[in-house]
Amino acid sequence: MILITGITGLLGSALCEQAEKNCSIHGIYLGQYKVMDTPSVRYSVCDVCDRDALFGLLDRDDIECVIHTAGIASVDDCEQKPELAHRSNVIGTKNVIELVRAKNARLVYISSNAVFDGTKPPYSEEDTPHPINRYGALKVECERLVRENVQNHLVVRPILMYGLNRPQERKSFLMWILETLKSGKQINLVNDVYENPLLTNRCADAIWRLIERGKSGIYHIAGKDILNRYEAGLNIARVFGLDPDLMTAVPSSFFPSLAPRPRNTSYTTAKIERELKVKPLGFEEGCLFLKKRILSQKTAE
Ligand SMILES: NC(=O)c1ccc[n+]([C@@H]2O[C@H](COP(=O)([O-])OP(=O)(O)OC[C@H]3O[C@@H](n4cnc5c(N)ncnc54)[C@H](OP(=O)(O)O)[C@@H]3O)[C@@H](O)[C@H]2O)c1
Repeated sequence: MILITGITGLLGSALCEQAEKNCSIHGIYLGQYKVMDTPSVRYSVCDVCDRDALFGLLDRDDIECVIHTAGIASVDDCEQKPELAHRSNVIGTKNVIELVRAKNARLVYISSNAVFDGTKPPYSEEDTPHPINRYGALKVECERLVRENVQNHLVVRPILMYGLNRPQERKSFLMWILETLKSGKQINLVNDVYENPLLTNRCADAIWRLIERGKSGIYHIAGKDILNRYEAGLNIARVFGLDPDLMTAVPSSFFPSLAPRPRNTSYTTAKIERELKVKPLGFEEGCLFLKKRILSQKTAE
């Protein structure tokens, strides 16, 4: 059985969707949102920070691999609520590591591009982390804990992900821009922070391939195009036929209360392309894929 922590998240949901049909998955989440069940997945509410609850729930389960995605993934929440962010990410990861060791399982830890300071892009797996915000520092700490305590481990660093959300879930930036433009509201988007946005389904697909092939070490996963949020917004408006004039390009300094963001953490995807034979998806192609999905969902309703 494969255990996925954070099963209701952006990535957790995509992992369920991209899994092989006969894959046995047990997913845990905190319980903030109601889950729309994937029939083949067993869902449980469980806080990874609660060691006894975690071990009690999984006591009898035979676990071959844990994909650990759970934790506070909002950069600003981590900055504003340091104790909660530490508990959620570090204590949660320590408990997961203990579980993995007890079960003699494999651990796939989901890290982030926030481990880098953004001054020397594009980043490869060989580059040395140097975070500039609390979220990035927590990811570096968790990566170290994983590396030092689990022999059979894989660290995956996705970059800014976009995909469809169920109502109430934490919105991907694409859904946020799309819904704001659809409602005819003005929106300010930063034009000085660059990433290569990654479709959630593509990320999940790459993670399953890494697991199937027994890979270990660090892997960066990203889309093809290096864009700032304003440029991404223009693509979204074009693909979905919305008004681009509702968007205004602003510098990061326009939002002084937000946590500092590294300026350019874009990745080189050479390792994943070479080893998995995957071709990173362009952002416009990703938007077109999602547009088709939205249309097919509407037709099915
Ligand atoms: N999103 C991105 O653009 C991005 C980019 C790079 C890396 N990452 C990393 O990828 C991973 C997944 O991100 P995401 O965007 O999918 O996150 P997300 O949408 O915010 O989902 C987080 C998931 O974790 C669960 N969770 C949170 N705290 C928990 C706890 N203490 N115990 C059990 N479950 C808990 C949540 O459950 P509830 O729904 O019940 O709260 C939810 O299922 C994270 O590690 C993040 O740092 C994300």
